[in-house]
Formats: sequence, structure tokens, C-alpha cells
Amino acid sequence: MIEENSTNRHLLKKEWVEDIVQLGKLGRKNSKRITMFEEINASDGLSRMEGSDEMRVSIEYLLKKMVEAELEIFFDDIGNIYGVYNGSNTNLKKIATGSHLDSVFNGGMFDGVVGVVAALEALRRLKQKGYLPKRSIVMCVFMGEEGSTVLESCVGSQFFCGKLSKEEIFGMESISGENFKKQLEITNRINSNYPIQNFKVDDFKLFLELHIEQGPVLENNDIPIGIVNTIYGIISYKISVDGVSNHAGSTPMDMRYDPLYGASQIISTITSIITDLKGKEFKCVVTFDTVGVYPNSPSIIPNEVVLTVDARSDMAEGLSFIDETIRKKVAQICSNLKLEYNIENIVDFEPVSLDANLIKVVQKASSNSNIAYKILPSGAIHDALHIAKTIPTSLIFVQSKNGISHSPFEWSTWEHIDKGVEILTTVLENLSNDS
Ligand code: HGY
Ligand code: MN
Ligand code: MN
Repeated sequence: MIEENSTNRHLLKKEWVEDIVQLGKLGRKNSKRITMFEEINASDGLSRMEGSDEMRVSIEYLLKKMVEAELEIFFDDIGNIYGVYNGSNTNLKKIATGSHLDSVFNGGMFDGVVGVVAALEALRRLKQKGYLPKRSIVMCVFMGEEGSTVLESCVGSQFFCGKLSKEEIFGMESISGENFKKQLEITNRINSNYPIQNFKVDDFKLFLELHIEQGPVLENNDIPIGIVNTIYGIISYKISVDGVSNHAGSTPMDMRYDPLYGASQIISTITSIITDLKGKEFKCVVTFDTVGVYPNSPSIIPNEVVLTVDARSDMAEGLSFIDETIRKKVAQICSNLKLEYNIENIVDFEPVSLDANLIKVVQKASSNSNIAYKILPSGAIHDALHIAKTIPTSLIFVQSKNGISHSPFEWSTWEHIDKGVEILTTVLENLSNDS
């Protein structure tokens, strides 16, 4: 313990630690500077959504640091940010590394940011030692990964992969009802003074993302680093249940069309099925994450309830099972209670296996640095999911404290992140030097 604290004290002087601390501070409404887990209170969450002031000032900070690192900076049409360290042969396919800067509402200071700052720090370290790569290395800061501003997630990396067009993205409506393009303007994502270059996944040979684990496996095994073999797929829906508003006192129980009663049955039935799932080769999780009740007023039977549900699986068959279960159970419950319903599919990303060769390269870099690692799947979605469908991709995890994420209490130790940055730097150096 004493040793860990002294190591952390030493690391607190490092530029990359200060970058994470500053970006944490800029992402919080209360602007609190946090360098130790013990300093966190429940009110210290980050809400750095696209379109927020927190995002605007965080982008300003990051750009300043990218300029200082002498990276060549570009934006693309929808506000992804790129910092290029030019190699000696710019005709070769480039190497990409990075993650996202946006957070969920009231989230933590490491999700996404660790991968962005690690990419910057790795490039600083390579430059400082005078290394000139053959292939250009590009730090990527993807826009809108979390799906907290618009319901769609990984918006930036999907644009990068050609899965969403600029028009589709600009036309999206945010959860608060604003036009997404306007929100991107507020943060200078799409009206900066930097040159525009629409980098695409095909310009790259491979992609590396460092990210916090966001789960308990590495900590339970006392291992600092994870190397991901599979990223779970996700399927999400908006389910509206429609009934009839009426008086809460004078309407007999057998003469009501109550959508909140129906929605509660939908939530409990589907959650129980997935919780009790046995005898399947796939794993599934399901979360009903938002509920809107209308008119949401005392003494009125509601007339509409809108639910959103997020479900994940390690196999495509698991996502199909979830899809069938949701459609069948919603239809049955609404028919029993004489309610109308509508199911809208929001996100549908298949799971992906990550490149076996790159796993070996990362294993070797970890072993050479005497850093223990574990191969494991990722239950969370990452920008790497989309990119991995086109080019070899590796996702490297850093242990999460208490397995907590999407919470103000998200934490990874500086010591563990340092190991992740070391591995990322080595792998970038090794992979950017072939021709
Ligand atoms: O929701 C997720 O899996 C991620 O944090 N974007
Ligand atoms: Mn993330
Ligand atoms: Mn996240």
C-alpha cells in the first residue's frame, strides 16, 4: 500500500496524469480537481456530453496539448479530431490509436479519456526519444461514443468507418430535442479553424485503443492489464406503450388501459428471462435504462410510457434471442392488457472478435515489460468495435477499481494506467516501423 501510494505520488508529476486530472476537472460542473480516489464524492460526476460547455472547454484543452506535442491537427466533417505524427513514408497505410472524450451523464473521469491521453502521451514519448516511424501514427478523438446526446452510440467512429453519413448525423435529434448539428457547432466540433480531412478507416493498417476495463475481472485476479478477444454486441430499443388517460379514483380496475402497469410487466418479465437464462451457448445482459411517463401527474392514469432498453451479448445468436424475446413478450403483455405499442430498434451492433495477431503483439509487449495481463472479453461497446470489422484492431484494458464505471466513482490507478501507456507506446513503435 505504502509502495503504491509513493508510486502514485511520483506519477502525479507526469504530464499525462495532469492531462487526465485537468480533463476531469473541465468535465465537472463543480470544476473539482481530483487526483485520488478518496477525494471523490457522489456529486463529482462528469457530464461531458456532445453539445455541452464541458465538451467545448475540454476540446480547447486537448487541442492546446496536441499543438504543444507538434502534431498536425485535422477535424473531419462531423467533428472527429485527428493528431498526425508524420512517418517517413506517407504513402504507407497509417496506424490509428485513440478513443473518445464524451462521457455519460454523471459519469467518471477515465472512460474514453484514458485512451485519448494515452495516445497523446505515447506520441510525446516516441517524439522525445527521437523515433521517426515509417508509417504515420494518427491520434484519433472520436465524437459521440456514448450515445448520451443522441440515442445512437459511436457516432464518430461509425462516420470514420463509412457506416453513418454526415447528413444522417447532422439530421439526428438529441435526447433534449435539439438538432445535433447545432450542438456540434456549440462545442466547435464542426466550425474550428483547423483544416478538414475526412480520414477513413481504409487509410489505416490497424487501430489500437486503450480503455479502462469497466468491470471487476482484472481487479479480482490482481492483474493490471487486459487484452480483449471479443467485444459484445448491443441491441437497443425504444418501446412506447399506449393506453388511455383517465381518473385514478373513478376508473374501476377492470376498465383501465394503464401503460405503466404494462411497462412494469415488460420490464420484470424480460429482465427475469435474461437473469434466469440457462443452457445457452451465449451470454446476455439486459438493462431498462430510461422510463418516460406521460402525463406523469398525480391522480391520472398515464396514457403513454416510453421505455428504452439496452441489451448485450457475446454472440449474434444472443442478440437474436433478445430480439425475439422482447418482441414476443411486449406483444403478449400489451394484448393481455389491451394496450397499443410500438417497438423502434435504435442500435444493432453485432459482436466482434479482435485480431489474433495483434493480441500476440500486445502479449509480447506486456511480457517484455514484465507486465501481467489477462485475455478477456469486453461487455462494453467501444469505438474499436466498428473499426475491428474492417481493419486489424486491438483493445487493451486497464484495471478498474471495484469494477465501477459510468459513475463518479470510476477509478483506475495511475500506476496501472502507466503500464497501459507503456504497452501502447511499445506496440505503436513496433508496428509503425515496417514498410
Ligand atoms: O455503453 C457502452 O458500452 C459504452 O460505454 N459506450
Ligand atoms: Mn468508453
Ligand atoms: Mn462509456
